[in-house]
Amino acid sequence: TKRWQRTTKINEQYHVIEEAAALLKDQQVVAFPTETVYGLGADATSEAAVQRIFEAKGRPSDNPLIVHVGDRSQVEQLVTHIPEIADKLMDQFWPGPLTLVLPSNHKAARNVTAGLDTVAIRMPSDPIALALLKETGLPLAAPSANRSGRPSPTDAAHVQQDLDGRIAGIVDGGPTGVGVESTVLDCTTEVPIILRPGGVTKEDLESFIPNVVIDPALADQAEDQPKSPGMKYTHYAPEAPLWLVEGDDEFFQHQLESMKAEGQRVAVIASRELVGQLNHEYVTPCGSRQQLTEVAGELYRALRYYKKADVDVILCESFPEHGVGAAIMNRLHKAATQKITQY
Ligand code: TXA
Ligand code: MG
Repeated sequence: TKRWQRTTKINEQYHVIEEAAALLKDQQVVAFPTETVYGLGADATSEAAVQRIFEAKGRPSDNPLIVHVGDRSQVEQLVTHIPEIADKLMDQFWPGPLTLVLPSNHKAARNVTAGLDTVAIRMPSDPIALALLKETGLPLAAPSANRSGRPSPTDAAHVQQDLDGRIAGIVDGGPTGVGVESTVLDCTTEVPIILRPGGVTKEDLESFIPNVVIDPALADQAEDQPKSPGMKYTHYAPEAPLWLVEGDDEFFQHQLESMKAEGQRVAVIASRELVGQLNHEYVTPCGSRQQLTEVAGELYRALRYYKKADVDVILCESFPEHGVGAAIMNRLHKAATQKITQY
């Protein structure tokens, strides 16, 4: 896997884009930064190229991919029509972390949409992603550039950890900004439905769709207490089991102390407000609970930080569910093997 180093020199940047684009046009897969997480890109019109994404990630083939576009005319080439609300949302939120599920005209490769009659499309705002889209002139299918089941990569080094030797290249654009994936919004229904909370918040969408709905399946997932650890199909999983603590700061401290007393090696992922109250060595502060965008930016790095050999369990704070907190908690519920709730 070729890793192009980060550079600030304009002419070197151009060279990187040209080389990476050439690989993509040659049906290879290349990881690149977006404003949310790193994506693993391939020509969305080529079934063979897209197949390489599924193989590199070990991703189940029934899970469809997001198509990235560099301009609006590429959307028109992939859909039967653009619903009026989708048009408005593109004006407002593109380029940016909002993915729109639209009626497919089946011009995208079959394996991109996993055989569905809809296609998920977004225009990323990261300049490297946009430059690659422009240079290739192709719509690029790109899921997050992690091995299936692992936390999404927010840094080129994370991509390398997961996919080195399995993909043609990695364009290093430094750490990504948003830190959680795009919001996926189904625009094929009468009232659009949020299928995945993400960088564009429900509150942001409500100014355009006052009655926007969250997929009821999401709420079920959050409540779904796994019967036994390991039975649940995990996503975003750290190496050590993650226990999500739902309660006040005192409850968290009490949990930590009693587990330490049992001789467990416990690591902590928490806001700096909570970390400041703990007397514990293995802590990864991930921003302020007053600034959830900071927490989103740090979350996946924190989930990747601890190695299996070093800790028995990771205790993680629960965050407020407003704004980008909805995306944070959605990912933590999926990453957790257990929840410890204060009653
Ligand atoms: O921020 C992001 O969206 C990142 C960056 C790289 O752009 N990409 C990303 O892709 O997160 P991925 O493949 O990891 O997640 C795609 C999500 C999945 O939840 C998938 O089920 C959903 O989008 N999806 C894709 N096509 C769909 C469709 N036609 N209908 C419903 N959901 C769809
Ligand atoms: Mg993913």
